Amino acid sequence: MRAEIIKLLRKHAHEFVSGEEMCRCFGISRTAIWKHIQLLRQEGFDIEAYSRKGYRLLGEPDCLFPENVAAGLVTKVFGNQIDYHDQINSTNERAKQLARQGALHGTIVIAEEQLQGKGRLGRFWYSPSGTGIWLSMILRPKILPFEAPKLTLLAGVAAARTIQQVAHLTPEIKWPNDILLKGKKVSGILTEMSAEMDAINFVVVGIGINVNLLPEHFGPELEDIATSLAIQKGEKISRVQLLQCFLLEIEALYEEFLHNGFEDILAEWKQWTNLLGRRVKITMLSHEFFATIVDIADSGALVVEREDGERQHVVSGEVSLDINA
Ligand code: BTN
Repeated sequence: MRAEIIKLLRKHAHEFVSGEEMCRCFGISRTAIWKHIQLLRQEGFDIEAYSRKGYRLLGEPDCLFPENVAAGLVTKVFGNQIDYHDQINSTNERAKQLARQGALHGTIVIAEEQLQGKGRLGRFWYSPSGTGIWLSMILRPKILPFEAPKLTLLAGVAAARTIQQVAHLTPEIKWPNDILLKGKKVSGILTEMSAEMDAINFVVVGIGINVNLLPEHFGPELEDIATSLAIQKGEKISRVQLLQCFLLEIEALYEEFLHNGFEDILAEWKQWTNLLGRRVKITMLSHEFFATIVDIADSGALVVEREDGERQHVVSGEVSLDINA
């Protein structure tokens, strides 16, 4: 009901909606409307109320309560089920737990703060309260396990589109999962999978977007390598709007992938990256080497040419730009 009330107030932005009209719309009493308005105010919505004029929405909280996210979310499936936490260790861990218990495809886990946010290769993902999008999505795609890395690339395209649309900033993607602004990381993706040899049980796509973190959040260790949308833009960005846009974009790309294949998505991914043709250092689990990036294979693997002229597919590893190249 509260989500419906907010939708109506948003539709009449800057105008009053009378109590009478609300009662008619929702089939509930004036007292019931008033109680919902009080709760919305407690959640941080700034709603003006006058007995003769009715209610007017002046401002919204930037907090990811499910009702805020659901109001105005126009996806078909993604985000229909929202598991919200004020504080959690890791949304990816929670999503895996829910998936094992049978959670539906498209279920999302969001948190205001993560205490043990996980990055790739066992790294820590810094996730302070109320400043970012810390999100994990449960997917049950009918694809073969070897195709799962494509979901990471697809999520990267969705994140890049979202940052451009909502923050009006133009990011770059660094294979496989880093989204950069001015060379500093603003977002990362951690995809985890449970699968048999020939079928996927579920995939969890976890994404972190540094939205409203300030320079003091990062501190000396991170300030040279990480940034946020607010730092780059010079103003706060709505996390709710960003999350809604991301869910819409990733759902559209996911459907496109399942129905039309990966070709166009990969082509778009290549447009978001500046890596092609660059000389880089590739760090794998057991060793590192220098190479030039030649292409991204249809599988999502990086195609590199080593210094001995041999071509190699890199499926997992870390790419750093070779500043001496
Ligand atoms: C990386 O770039 O190393 C990947 C970072 C992924 C971070 C996100 S935040 C939401 C989700 N929950 C986690 O614990 N990690 C991912």
